[in-house]
Amino acid sequence: MELFFYISQTDERTMSITEISNHKIKRNILQILRQNPNAATETFICQELQMDLELIRNQILELRESGYEIQTAGNGLQLIHEPDNPYPWEFPGRESTIHYFKELSSTMDLAREMARKECPDFTVIISEFQSTGRGRLQRTWHSDAGGLYFTIVLRPRLAPAHSHRINFAASLVLAKVLQQMFHLDAKVKWPNDILVNNLKLSGMLSEMGIEANKLSYVNIGIGINVNNDPMGKEPNAISLKKLLGTRIDRRKLLSSFLDDFQAVMSGSTLENIIPQWKHYTMTIGRHVKIVTIKESYEGVARDVNENGALILEQGDGSLKEVIYGDCFHG
Ligand code: BTN
Repeated sequence: MELFFYISQTDERTMSITEISNHKIKRNILQILRQNPNAATETFICQELQMDLELIRNQILELRESGYEIQTAGNGLQLIHEPDNPYPWEFPGRESTIHYFKELSSTMDLAREMARKECPDFTVIISEFQSTGRGRLQRTWHSDAGGLYFTIVLRPRLAPAHSHRINFAASLVLAKVLQQMFHLDAKVKWPNDILVNNLKLSGMLSEMGIEANKLSYVNIGIGINVNNDPMGKEPNAISLKKLLGTRIDRRKLLSSFLDDFQAVMSGSTLENIIPQWKHYTMTIGRHVKIVTIKESYEGVARDVNENGALILEQGDGSLKEVIYGDCFHG
């Protein structure tokens, strides 16, 4: 986990009231169109939402520009096709905390900036594409269109020494969601990669800020290969589309993950997270090689301790506690 000490700034970067209300109007228009597949008239939409025609027309125009195919049918409107982009209005109740971008350098950069400007707990920054997506240990995270790339800003009530629990919670929740939604044998490779059939489906990165010896923020960045094709650039990677043979609705996946992760995080000190995580890992018991920027170690992964460190039994029988590194399964 990268660590930043800083002096907090007071100017807040939040979404404007108009933006939030426009997200809610779009959500309501979509709800009416979905409930009326045989077409809903503009007058009906205006009456239902008690809003004037010009406002509704502007929002419908923006929905069309965002990829929703809304056709005129008779004197009504029909929703013919919806994109699976994770727009804020697709997450009821989260309209004010989801920030969606077509392109960013890295969601980690903006998340850090927003965390330092006092954005609320569980603010989510999503980008369709990242020009300089980052992986752990100074690697690049290829972020082609079709994947899910997001960072969650958390303000946990945890001692800095326990911040690693959040990464374990996030990877545990994601493995469970992938198992439940798609019946995949998704497993966690220490510390937080999600693998299926030994191929990497998701990776996580975290950063934290400390102020007066307390955690000010922990930012968890998650990349999931969904409908993108990472295999050309990363031979050991795989996408959900490739595994399942069909495109996946990224909105549903992200929504389940955010709901479940927030439930695990809310008010909890995550005391028992590592024992639970151990049920979902494929690392313990395997022969592994751990590579850090400077060193590498080999041995059998015997356990993961309360600090999140991997306990490695080396060739001479000695036990080594490894705090970070890239783990390769033998
Ligand atoms: C790794 O496996 O090395 C970690 C990959 C983390 C990728 C995500 S994508 C969203 C967020 N923004 C980034 O630049 N990186 C993380």
